Amino acid sequence: MSGLQLDSNGRLRHLITLEGLDRKHIEALLDRATELRDAFADSGGGPQLLSGRTIINLFFEASTRTRTSFELAARRLGATVLNFEISSSSTNKGETLEDTLSTLEAMQADAFVVRHRENGTPARLARHSRRAVILNAGDGNNAHPTQGLLDALTIRDRHADFSRLKVTLCGDIRHSRVARSDLHVLTALGAGEIRLSGPAALMPASDEFPNCHIVENFDDAVAGSDVVIMLRLQRERMAEALVNDEADYFRRYGLTTERLRRAAADALVMHPGPMNRGIEIAADVADGPQSVILDQVSNGIPVRMAAMASLLEA
Ligand code: CP
Repeated sequence: MSGLQLDSNGRLRHLITLEGLDRKHIEALLDRATELRDAFADSGGGPQLLSGRTIINLFFEASTRTRTSFELAARRLGATVLNFEISSSSTNKGETLEDTLSTLEAMQADAFVVRHRENGTPARLARHSRRAVILNAGDGNNAHPTQGLLDALTIRDRHADFSRLKVTLCGDIRHSRVARSDLHVLTALGAGEIRLSGPAALMPASDEFPNCHIVENFDDAVAGSDVVIMLRLQRERMAEALVNDEADYFRRYGLTTERLRRAAADALVMHPGPMNRGIEIAADVADGPQSVILDQVSNGIPVRMAAMASLLEA
């Protein structure tokens, strides 16, 4: 992927995945996100780095957070943004995604933000693109790189040294693109220990993340954790129902106040959303003092500003 994502000078050309992206590139994006967050907080306005640029959101799957924050990020940086209407487009008449991309590129689009249910679609479009840059907004269970970056920024805001951190991800890791991007960024930033917890049927293949510890018992996994990232059951990506009894799932894997007491006293509670209260997380924990779930959402904007500005720099 590095040949597609980085140009011959090692500069980021598309943002498709965090897998294989080195610490230097990741830290540069997080630093830039922090600078942009400060610039917009201090002055109410900020640098119009994308003035004259056109960004097109191509979302073939539902989204609340990602599509909105890409749009807000692009507009705040001065770009023109178009939300492409898939349902009324010629993709319904059999036009290929490649032809759709070429057509929109011919209208001088500079960047496409792509979400698609099939793994590899953003990479496929990046290979096809002549000039425009591609930002992956989530493909299948493969990658969600800006979510991984905003999660890393949310942790880094409170813990600069990842090597000291025990991070637990709990839930449907197998079907989660967020989990994959989180695991890639946490590994690149040198997280001290990463634990994965959930039913065996929802764990990744044993050789996919050899640096992570699989701890099926969630009480054991959460003990001493500095960061607990909860994930929803992604039923839309399950070939068959892998969890039938949600009440039993919550008893075994739900993050409750009682369970959270086993974690470090200042442990961060995270969730990428959308969140299912009472299934993977109790409402009082989601809304509680240790929750940084809305900080994750807020950090999505500067992270996406940083990504777009970095890719579209002349
Ligand atoms: N975290 C996330 O990708 O949320 P949306 O599906 O609402 O974009």
